[in-house]
Amino acid sequence: MSDLDVSAAKLLLIDDDLPSLKLMEAILKQAGYEKITTTTDPRQAVQFYREVKPDLIATDMRMPEMDGFEVMRQLAGVIPTEEYLPILVITGELDAPTKHRALAEGAKDFLNKPVDATEVVLRIKNQLVTRQLHRQLRMHNEHLEAQVRLRTKVVEQTQLDLLNRLALAAEYRHDATGGHAWRVGRMAMLLAEMKGLPADQVEMIKRTAPLHDIGKVGLLDAVILKTGPYDAADWEAMKQHTKIGSRLLSDSRAPLLMMAREVALTHHERWDGTGYHGIKGVQIPLAGRIVALADAFDIMTHPSPYRATLTLNQAKVEIEVQAGKQFDPELSALCSRLIDREGEKLLAATGPLQLVA
Ligand SMILES: [Fe+2]
Ligand SMILES: [Fe+2]
Repeated sequence: MSDLDVSAAKLLLIDDDLPSLKLMEAILKQAGYEKITTTTDPRQAVQFYREVKPDLIATDMRMPEMDGFEVMRQLAGVIPTEEYLPILVITGELDAPTKHRALAEGAKDFLNKPVDATEVVLRIKNQLVTRQLHRQLRMHNEHLEAQVRLRTKVVEQTQLDLLNRLALAAEYRHDATGGHAWRVGRMAMLLAEMKGLPADQVEMIKRTAPLHDIGKVGLLDAVILKTGPYDAADWEAMKQHTKIGSRLLSDSRAPLLMMAREVALTHHERWDGTGYHGIKGVQIPLAGRIVALADAFDIMTHPSPYRATLTLNQAKVEIEVQAGKQFDPELSALCSRLIDREGEKLLAATGPLQLVA
């Protein structure tokens, strides 16, 4: 049974007949109810509801200015849908159709006139107990939802944390100067923003782009640490890092890991189809096309054993020249604008993944 505190329950009674109203009030006071608001004017129902915030409303059905149906209709417009606020209908004789209509319009129970004190007390208490149970259930649900939200956040945070650590591992392996993975992540994020992608996609690209070269952890030292010019066999071995990366990140249903895998596999594809795996144009996943550009720009503008370092302007020209060949032409144009807008900041940016002390 419930531990209902009747003295705290707020009741609103509406009846145009003052003696009936007084009788109801007296019965309920006798039963321990202390917070009873009464009115003989049904037109004040909504106003009283707002002021009193009752736990239960009992309304007469036949009243001159406004009948019980209209009272319920007006209340329905202001009572929040998630709230269980019992409305009891007090009436003399009730035929079946009127009863059905009252129930359909939100009445939870009926009280017959002339009222029977015991019945009034029991029926009102029943409704208040039901309201209390509804409330407890709602609070319990809200608590559970909050718990689920918290757990989901922890899981997401763990995923991001692990991705960062993976990116760091990849960087230790092949980026002696540090910062490449982080800069590629930042530039890919800026390009995704300029492309107009939704915020969650931009965030995912920012998080997954630093992992593009994760597959290099699986390459031989002889290839990865070579400082001299690469021969055909070296290039062939180097190409494997996209497949190794894809294998490392495969078989996950987590959207972040799925995108990271896509990026690892396709960041050396070229718009004209002459890249590592021969994928062409828009068949290359967008995240892969974006990272391809960010990665190439960063390699062009930083010392590398594979090619001469370019100035910002030279890199911009190269990216424009490669529009529609190596790069998605639309992204190339966005990248040109990004270089104009951010300038040196694109080169100097270093983040938490920086390895150089
Ligand atoms: Fe790569
Ligand atoms: Fe890279």
